[in-house]
Amino acid sequence: MMNRWRVLKRLLPLVAGMALLLSACGREDLSTLSPKGPVAQKQFDLMTLSISIMALVVVVVFAICIYVLIRFRRRKGDNTVPKQVEGNHTLEIIWTVVPIILLLILGVPTINTVFGLSKDYSKDPEAVQVTVTSHQYWWEFEYPEYGIKTAQELIVPTGRKIQFKLASGDVTHAFWIPSIGGKIDTNAGLGTTNKLYLEFPNEGVFRGKCAELCGPSHALMDFKAKAVNQASFDRWVAAMKTPVSMPADENVKAAFESKCLTCHAIGETNAGSAAPNLTGVGSRLTVGGILYNDEKSAEENLKDWIAHAQTIKPGNQMPDVGTDVKYGPGKGTTATGLTEEELDGIAKYLAGQKLEY
Ligand code: CUA
Repeated sequence: MMNRWRVLKRLLPLVAGMALLLSACGREDLSTLSPKGPVAQKQFDLMTLSISIMALVVVVVFAICIYVLIRFRRRKGDNTVPKQVEGNHTLEIIWTVVPIILLLILGVPTINTVFGLSKDYSKDPEAVQVTVTSHQYWWEFEYPEYGIKTAQELIVPTGRKIQFKLASGDVTHAFWIPSIGGKIDTNAGLGTTNKLYLEFPNEGVFRGKCAELCGPSHALMDFKAKAVNQASFDRWVAAMKTPVSMPADENVKAAFESKCLTCHAIGETNAGSAAPNLTGVGSRLTVGGILYNDEKSAEENLKDWIAHAQTIKPGNQMPDVGTDVKYGPGKGTTATGLTEEELDGIAKYLAGQKLEY
């Protein structure tokens, strides 16, 4: 008894810690169990249905099993051989028909929902088209109808179908917004584009995750889906297309152009998509998808990120460019590094890149 209590006492903090950890995974809900859209709702309903049927079978089978074990157990002093039975039509019909009925109850809505959710709205003029490209370890969102590209924050209007075309720029990732729906793999090459539609009935911010092990920073490959009303979405589109001015300070401008715009693009500078598009980066909720801008200011987060991108998200394509480079291609040199003034200036400039919408 003493021993068991001691074990329990040791396990208690662990259990409490786990409960705390599991209940506090980020501020936006990352759970399929509280659906916030019709797609997630249908997925949740399927889960509820199948788990209920399974639970029912378990309860009935265990109840019969326990009843039989007790009722027909061998009693003390009873050495008679039980009556031998062979075949029982009633029972055989029951245990054939009942599972068939259960499978039908499970199968019909499953097939119905699975095919319903794979509907393609890419030709629907009412739907918003978004091309998703996954990268180690960030998400690129392109709106071909509007000619805009953004990263890490998917902005969508409420009440419309959002049709995604998904592929990967490198390895296999998976696109998943647990409270809205998904998940679906993003594959590389071979023209293997996957499709998925989602709906956002309410305004809000929904957390998205990469759901396929894709490298050392897989667990940090977060994104946000921000649903806004149609008017706000239209303002965002217009703001995204407004020309962007370069940093006012000449040194900062030179550093930004030679060290950032080689991979990144901002505004109309179409510097390819090797790295996240920086248009409106100052109004995103996070920097790098994981540093929340309400814990620290966007400027501080940007400074941290630019100087220590490899420490914050190991293995991503952005080298540490701070003067104290510890990891990545710039390690041990200051060749790719920025001076403190340049770093401050760039962080300040980027934090000021806000979109009104
Ligand atoms: Cu990308 Cu896991």
